[in-house]
Amino acid sequence: MKAAVINHYGGREQLEVIDMPIPKIKSDEVLVENMATSINPIDYKAREGLLKRMFPWQFPVILGWDIAGIVASTGDDVTSFKVGDPVFARPDIDTKGVNGSYAEYTAVKADKLALKPNNISFVEAAAVPLAGLTALQMLRKLQLSSNQKILIQAGAGGVGIYAIQLAKMIGAYVVTTASQNNHEFVKSLGADSVIDYHKNNIQDVLSDFDTVLDTVGDVDNGIAILKSGGHLVTISNALTDQQKNTSDKTVTEGWLNPNGQDLAILASYIAKGELQIVVDSLYPLTTEGIQSAHERSETHHARGKVVVQIKE
Ligand SMILES: NC(=O)c1ccc[n+]([C@@H]2O[C@H](COP(=O)([O-])OP(=O)(O)OC[C@H]3O[C@@H](n4cnc5c(N)ncnc54)[C@H](OP(=O)(O)O)[C@@H]3O)[C@@H](O)[C@H]2O)c1
Repeated sequence: MKAAVINHYGGREQLEVIDMPIPKIKSDEVLVENMATSINPIDYKAREGLLKRMFPWQFPVILGWDIAGIVASTGDDVTSFKVGDPVFARPDIDTKGVNGSYAEYTAVKADKLALKPNNISFVEAAAVPLAGLTALQMLRKLQLSSNQKILIQAGAGGVGIYAIQLAKMIGAYVVTTASQNNHEFVKSLGADSVIDYHKNNIQDVLSDFDTVLDTVGDVDNGIAILKSGGHLVTISNALTDQQKNTSDKTVTEGWLNPNGQDLAILASYIAKGELQIVVDSLYPLTTEGIQSAHERSETHHARGKVVVQIKE
């Protein structure tokens, strides 16, 4: 099968499309024929070697952790999906580095899958799992409730677009940060107010927040705008002991826990037209295409998700 791999850690030029064996599935896995995948910041961090202590991968390594495709075969113990089902998933990151999604086929544990809603394309579906699950689970971790005030950093980013919409569904008052050219866009997703982070430090203009979803590592400023008893979750920074022990406030790191049940919740919102998907740009699964997709993501200014189409 065609797959985009790296043979060394390093820059975008390490990515190349080669022929790789189709993964073999275990009894609790499903083989998905991928139609599309999307880029997340973890992809270029992994490409540079950030995960090498956690995962002792052997090259060539297939990156990518967003799946949208069709079930090609199922393991003996799989009863929840059948051949031909349209599905999407954020698969586990495997220890061998062969189960990434920049490939024509990926083996995915069945409990990570959900049925793709019929009203969206595979390209749109690939833009959902990792970022959408993160947004859903972090708002849950923050115990966000109606009428609370939340700051969602980077509202135009992959996680931000979903977090704004999900927080509005809960009934919260949503403030977000974005460059000026994205202010109308994030308001169209439901943001009540937008801060241009190039012009204002959030601490100078915001106060008395119940919750902060930090996606940019602006932790000290986020803590400063919390009211007593408030809660900040960061998904993009390791916290210092001092930050973790902030008196009167809860300050925690958040990690996505991929699972098909939460993805099915997102799928139900999408099917009802309540959750909008935003595709920033689309690239083919070629060496040039995957390198350009990483380049776009690494600008840190994608509006929504960078998607890679694997099959028409
Ligand atoms: N812990 C976890 O489980 C987990 C899961 C998912 C993601 N993450 C991490 O969360 C972070 C965000 O992920 P993502 O997918 O949302 O990234 P992304 O899509 O690459 O974010 C791009 C957005 O960031 C905005 N941005 C850039 N610098 C900013 C700043 N200083 N302040 C406010 N906004 C800024 C840009 O908005 P403008 O163009 O408007 O400036 C752009 O729209 C990454 O570090 C990622 O690795 C962690």
